[in-house]
Amino acid sequence: MSGDGKRIAVFGAGYVGLVTGACFAELGHRVAIRDIVPDRIAALRRGEVPIYEPGLDDLLERNAERLFYTTDVEEAIDGAGFVFVAVGTPPTYSGDADLSAVWTVIDELPEMERRIVVALKSTVPVGTGTKVRHRLDARGLAHVGYVSNPEFTAEGTAVRDFLEPDRIVIGAFDEADGDAVAALHSGIDAPIVRADVASAEMIKLAANAALMTRISFINEIANVCEATGADVVKVAEGIGYDRRIGKSFLRAGVGFGGSCFPKDSLALKQLAANSGYHFQVLNAVIEVNELQKRRVIGKLVELLDTLRDKRIALLGLAFKPGTDDTREAPAFVLAGRLLAEGAEVVAWDPVASADGLTGVRQVESVDEAVRGADAVVLVTEWPELGGLDWRALGATMRTAVLVDGRNMLDPDEMRGAGFRYDAIGRAASNGR
Ligand code: UDX
Repeated sequence: MSGDGKRIAVFGAGYVGLVTGACFAELGHRVAIRDIVPDRIAALRRGEVPIYEPGLDDLLERNAERLFYTTDVEEAIDGAGFVFVAVGTPPTYSGDADLSAVWTVIDELPEMERRIVVALKSTVPVGTGTKVRHRLDARGLAHVGYVSNPEFTAEGTAVRDFLEPDRIVIGAFDEADGDAVAALHSGIDAPIVRADVASAEMIKLAANAALMTRISFINEIANVCEATGADVVKVAEGIGYDRRIGKSFLRAGVGFGGSCFPKDSLALKQLAANSGYHFQVLNAVIEVNELQKRRVIGKLVELLDTLRDKRIALLGLAFKPGTDDTREAPAFVLAGRLLAEGAEVVAWDPVASADGLTGVRQVESVDEAVRGADAVVLVTEWPELGGLDWRALGATMRTAVLVDGRNMLDPDEMRGAGFRYDAIGRAASNGR
């Protein structure tokens, strides 16, 4: 715990802002979290956490005396030495990142005599820092520092990712500002990568692109495994031991979703295109992912002949376990395709909601979802799906068919339990 607590303002009370604020408070700083949505601020003041993120509520509660919530800019910045910007940067119709929320924060900064440092957490195109610098200068705020400090937190593990990161990246125009932001992290044991602002911005985009590339790569290997009789789970294990490759992000499945990957891949693709460069690998990564989300439909047609009037149970709506986030979730694409094919869709998820999925019936339990279904698709690898009595569940179905979109279950056990079972990239165990 740092004894030298600083005053920090965090703009944006979303996943990134709340985790950033809570973790800085845990490190001993005093943090004002500011958001434009009054209901959100009111809920936080009442001690309610508006998002599902493991460990976050404990952290906010434990550090309550160092945390303060407001909708007011002046109040948030009063006495603060740092303004962390953690607002959304969603894609526009063109696929570019929409930076309007970032610009609003910059334009709302009050005139001030003292030097504060603005640190950007949000993922932005390379070149944003330079533009912000110019805007600050034009507003007579040349004495306000600017630092790029991208976040690498994954939903579900965000608190741990912040407090025990692989690295901290700090890109600064002025070394002293970078030093000051680095000092805020004292108490965290991690390498600090100091860079110029453009490189720090690119590190975030490149890290995400590298991770997505691994996923689309292993998904394509899975598809070739299916066609040739190999098992992608074994293949991933075998290549993962190679230290040059490593084990992580080699789980084949129904594709990646979430609030970051899909939007950041588009933003990087557009950034490259706008700069006159055609980013071939990234284009392929995006296309493979789109096709991967739809492959389950082909598997179901193979198993059921037709989807018309068939009841399909989707297990999992969140884009991954440990979160209620359904942004760009493969389950939503699947549900849309199934409904278009004339199927009836029932969905279960322990925390995520099917809101916005017109025509999908959400139920409270796996039993309820599975009962009477013609097929089950395991879309999100929620741990609770691992220890179920699948034989008993299969007996309640109209036909015991299961497509395991995350290779979570044991193919032999599932077949032993009476299922016609298919997975992703596991042709060998499929007997084909
Ligand atoms: C990601 C990055 O990990 C994080 O560093 C960044 O700041 C934001 O984007 P997040 O979207 O929360 O975080 O989730 P992550 O755990 O990385 O998973 C992303 C998607 O990839 C999920 O849909 C997941 O199911 C999928 N995935 C992940 C795979 O399909 N296979 C894998 O091997 C790993």
